[in-house]
Amino acid sequence: MHRMHNHPKTKSGPETTGVTTHWTPQHDIFVRLIGMGVNGPNSRMIIEMAKIKPGDKVLDVGCGTGDLTLTAKKYAGASGSAYGIDASPAGVDIAREKAKRSGSEVVFEVGLIEKIAYPDAIFDVVISRLVIHHLPDDLKCQGFKEIYRVLKPGGLFFLVDFKSPTNPVLARVASALVRHRMMMQSNVQGIPPMLTETGFVDVASGPTRSAFLAFVSARKPDD
Ligand SMILES: C[S@@+](CC[C@H](N)C(=O)[O-])C[C@H]1O[C@@H](n2cnc3c(N)ncnc32)[C@H](O)[C@@H]1O
Repeated sequence: MHRMHNHPKTKSGPETTGVTTHWTPQHDIFVRLIGMGVNGPNSRMIIEMAKIKPGDKVLDVGCGTGDLTLTAKKYAGASGSAYGIDASPAGVDIAREKAKRSGSEVVFEVGLIEKIAYPDAIFDVVISRLVIHHLPDDLKCQGFKEIYRVLKPGGLFFLVDFKSPTNPVLARVASALVRHRMMMQSNVQGIPPMLTETGFVDVASGPTRSAFLAFVSARKPDD
């Protein structure tokens, strides 16, 4: 398995101009309640939309406490592998603890999307849930270049992020829940042109089963 050693695992985490989450184990109770826990309905929906299959090597960028990564590993099976990186050392500690408790061989590392410390062209799929809105546009572009670099030719990038619900009541709920500046600026429609500019092909976006989330997917061209 590949290991990253570029970023010191200090509790303050590597420096980024994005927004790092300071995770606590209490977050996970909420996360499970809204279906985003390990193998929760939202996590399974995303992994199934990304068509992760046995044997795939998957990277989850901005993995937080690892629920989506651990779900990906279940779909990738014993012949596949899953890796999660996050800027938050506290999140990575919790993710590692979960992997240990469940006996899952997922590798969790402190690391930045804009500086992924893995070799070129090693992943079949890169996934990301609710992370891209944390990044200012220049960092998004750097991150997309890095994701492109680590994907194998033909590999898939699949992300979900906030969208404004079309239902006005849900829209009000969303704006009450969503507080921080970059979340307010979540702009999923702005992502496809950036991916095309990076070199991705088959760029697509659309709704998911969740009223609050849209997906964007893109493929690295075959050699
Ligand atoms: C809302 S959380 C989502 C966590 C996880 N993807 C999930 O769905 O459970 C956003 C995560 O992005 C991470 N993050 C923000 N900027 C980052 C960066 N530049 N590189 C890596 N992770 C980052 C935060 O630390 C946080 O854990």
